[in-house]
Amino acid sequence: MQSKSIQVKGLQKSYKQLQVLKGVDFEVEKGSIFALLGSNGAGKTTVVRILTTLLQSDGGTAAVNGFDVAFKPDQVRQTISLTGQFAAVDEILTGRENLIMIAKLRYLKNPRQVADDMLQRFGLTEAADRRVSTYSGGMRRRLDIALSIVGKPQIIFLDEPTTGLDPEARIEVWKIVKELADGGTTVLLTTQYLEEAEQLADRIAILHEGRIIASGTLQELKKMFPTTKVEYVEKQLSLEEIFLAIVGKKEAI
Ligand SMILES: Nc1ncnc2c1ncn2[C@@H]1O[C@H](COP(=O)(O)OP(=O)(O)OP(=O)(O)O)[C@@H](O)[C@H]1O
Ligand SMILES: [Mg+2]
Repeated sequence: MQSKSIQVKGLQKSYKQLQVLKGVDFEVEKGSIFALLGSNGAGKTTVVRILTTLLQSDGGTAAVNGFDVAFKPDQVRQTISLTGQFAAVDEILTGRENLIMIAKLRYLKNPRQVADDMLQRFGLTEAADRRVSTYSGGMRRRLDIALSIVGKPQIIFLDEPTTGLDPEARIEVWKIVKELADGGTTVLLTTQYLEEAEQLADRIAILHEGRIIASGTLQELKKMFPTTKVEYVEKQLSLEEIFLAIVGKKEAI
């Protein structure tokens, strides 16, 4: 059995003149939560789109569940799900109808039962028969994640799952993500929220100027700083301070 769910080596991608990925390397262990951290425009969505077979890279290799994304896209798609940066739910339908539709598209045996279970699990039972257009941002996001895990994908990609959510809704989504990983699902999420990476991720990688400039557990990232500096500031560095220092804005600490 493969212990790596995702292996990325030397990944490159340009949009015309703009070289967004200049050789990205990272690996994700099965059943772990991996956070890809980066500022606006760093290339996080580009990485996710390549790994989910929606976009072709210009160079390097990427394998998902042991399948090369360029040569075995169908096999890759069978094991993954993607929750994009922008909600993909159908607003005209109710939450329940959205779930039933996806369960049918995935040829599951009992779509109504699947929908009921998901509504329950994601705290949407009461709102189940309302049109999604009446849902709050947090409810949409929960439905979005529920839709993406119908059919039990082994690997789930969440592109900025909590952007735009209030703190309470964010914590709810964190809980869901943790439960998914506890159940054995591999999670790759992108985020601009350092706290999110700090709370959720087993490993964190910082994407900056086309490359992963630092990666490891939170503890490992913290250790990358000279202890003198830590003593000097007389406190534990937060991931935010580490991030800003690593991407070169040293005045932050
Ligand atoms: N289809 C495209 N054509 C041209 N440029 C693109 C295209 N898609 C993305 N870009 C550019 O590539 C860079 C990386 O974009 P990407 O969406 O991957 O960043 P991101 O890290 O996801 O940013 P954000 O945090 O804002 O979502 C940006 O400068 C963006 O403008
Ligand atoms: Mg993005």
